[in-house]
Amino acid sequence: MNKILGKPLDRVDGKLKVTGKAPYTADISVENLAYGVIFQSTISQGKVIEIETSNAAACPGVLDIITYKETPTLVKIPFFPTKENLPSEDDDNIYYNGQHLGIVIAETLEKAEYAASLVKITYEETAPTITMAQADMFEPESIFFGIMPGKITRGDIAEGKSQAEVLVEKVYTTPTEHHNPLETSATLAMWEGENLTLYETTQGISATQRSIAAVLDIPQENVRVISQYLGGGFGCKALLRSHTILTAIAARQVQRPVKVVLTRSQMYTACGYRSQTLQNLTLGATKSGQLTLINHIGTSLTSLFDDFVEPVGAPTTMMYACPHLQIKYRLGRVNTITPTFMRAPGEAPGMFALESAMDELAIALNIDPIELRLQNHADIDPQTGLPWSSKSLKQCYEQGAQLFGWSLRNPIPRSMHDGDFLIGWGMASATFPSNSGKSSVKVEIFANGEVQVKTGTQDLGTGTYTVMTQVAAEALGVSSQQVKFELGDSNLPNAPITGNSMTVGSVSPAVHQAANAAKQRMIQMAIADVNSPIYGTPATDITVESGEIYSPQNPTQKDSYSEILRRHHLASLEVTEETAPNPESKKYSKHSFGAIFVEIAIDELLGEIKVRRCVGVYSVGKILNSKTARSQVIGGITWGIGMALMEKTVMDAEQGRIVNRNLSDYLIPVHTDIPKMEVQFVEETDPHVNTLGTKSLGELPIVGVAAAIANAVYHATGKRIRDLPITPDKLL
Ligand code: MOS
Repeated sequence: MNKILGKPLDRVDGKLKVTGKAPYTADISVENLAYGVIFQSTISQGKVIEIETSNAAACPGVLDIITYKETPTLVKIPFFPTKENLPSEDDDNIYYNGQHLGIVIAETLEKAEYAASLVKITYEETAPTITMAQADMFEPESIFFGIMPGKITRGDIAEGKSQAEVLVEKVYTTPTEHHNPLETSATLAMWEGENLTLYETTQGISATQRSIAAVLDIPQENVRVISQYLGGGFGCKALLRSHTILTAIAARQVQRPVKVVLTRSQMYTACGYRSQTLQNLTLGATKSGQLTLINHIGTSLTSLFDDFVEPVGAPTTMMYACPHLQIKYRLGRVNTITPTFMRAPGEAPGMFALESAMDELAIALNIDPIELRLQNHADIDPQTGLPWSSKSLKQCYEQGAQLFGWSLRNPIPRSMHDGDFLIGWGMASATFPSNSGKSSVKVEIFANGEVQVKTGTQDLGTGTYTVMTQVAAEALGVSSQQVKFELGDSNLPNAPITGNSMTVGSVSPAVHQAANAAKQRMIQMAIADVNSPIYGTPATDITVESGEIYSPQNPTQKDSYSEILRRHHLASLEVTEETAPNPESKKYSKHSFGAIFVEIAIDELLGEIKVRRCVGVYSVGKILNSKTARSQVIGGITWGIGMALMEKTVMDAEQGRIVNRNLSDYLIPVHTDIPKMEVQFVEETDPHVNTLGTKSLGELPIVGVAAAIANAVYHATGKRIRDLPITPDKLL
């Protein structure tokens, strides 16, 4: 029985954070620090004719100004379109508004900002390509930086169409969206000789170490990357960005540490975004509700210089048991930075379309939407034919419906009221893949009773510190207060990037294994030691609980880690273990699932939509901390509500500038927009994903929310909105 694992332990870093003592990258200061301010293009397409820096350079306190013409040639690496992201001497082209053109370094931030405002750039401007309608479209061969095929088929869609008695053939659109982490991206770069230290806001310290070493053509071991606290990332801190490179170049140039903190406005053009999507989706079904056809064509936009496709069809391939399917993509080039991964890339916009279309199909067939989903439930992964490592989606529907009171729903649109408000009830499914990677962890037990657990993972603010503390404490049989968990330094043993919802699934098995190995080493030392109270006891009989090492058959004879170390004249005992995904797990399709139910109220005169109630039920394998898990879900649903009703990046269609690049014009939910949420997890055992049986949770809860709300809007009003966000004007 777990004593610590699964329990709602408060965040171990909570006090530090709420008292402002947790050092985020922008808070870090070092001796002799200089400040960098990046200046960017103010046009979207054209050429730089001249950069006039003399006025800026003459400002007091300015140490140097480095334009793109003076930066060293960067080595091109995958995932980082160097040439285009940071133009080089032989390329004066402007590819998008907000493209970095150089950096001013000064004694203070204010001096650097003022000087940067005096840099005068002359351009030759040409008309940018901004909209989907203006862009030339092509069908990419591969998507997602080449790791997924550009086209997926099964069966024969013509056959699927001929078998269909009912067709739903619709177009769904989602707007450009930005990540908007509370903490903007920041870098502090410091050179000591040939060695570079980066304090960096990154979801991947090792990846940043590798990437920047490659780009600058220096040995990887010369680079150290530190990132101990993060205020969110959501994908925009997953890849190396050019402001980091510029900061490192600047620090080398002025021979002083340099710090750059991007402004909120710069975040909108420097760190990627989610492309708008246009999704042509066709569902075919028999009159009894059996899907015969799914055809999902996703159109999205990318930059002039690199291909990134929002993979909206990824969940479509595996959600429903349909024999005939096609997924295809179309991509157009516009004057923007390359889009990137953003919270549930593919799933978030893709499931808006698929789960809206399933609702439309249910209405066309006059079948309850849950019933339609159950009827097409995929008992195995329909694309790969593999069994699921675990799947409890049916229980999610059932538990969610029960909690929500779905059976009381009158399916007729406009039939439910509360005074003058129209009431709508809607639901949708959620899914996200459950991946993991190789991790290495060091556990050290000290004679004073403290345990240090170290690995080079990251904590985005989601609770890595807390959950890994629990895993270690549980395995070692000590209290969570005794464990000190360290992360966020590339000098520590390696762990994967914190993205793709895989930190818990990757790192916790290694923490568990290393802690267990340390415990076993201690037990072996004790039972072989004539001076131990448990001398000679078989190791298999030994339990460790609350720091006491004993055999339940003989509970008065107790040893402890401290005593063992003391008797052996050791200050500490150290164990490092590495775990990798079990190759056997490749025989299973690994996904998390969930179901989301919402109640909305609409004031028809104003078109205002208020989300009144949310019920979310999820199956994610074992829960390691019931409080942080629940918080993650609340955050994800909150974002889903924002996606459904508010979020939209607006691009000026003539100038190619983002109009609302700040948090007062880019709307995200505030407290009053968010209702009471009921969150439950289905108890689920998954023996295949990893040793602890945890599946992905990070990105899952945003998925389906927008569709559930759109479905509720239809139920309330009889109006189907297929274009996000669902703003009041679309209802009037
Ligand atoms: Mo994520 S979108 O893998 O941070």
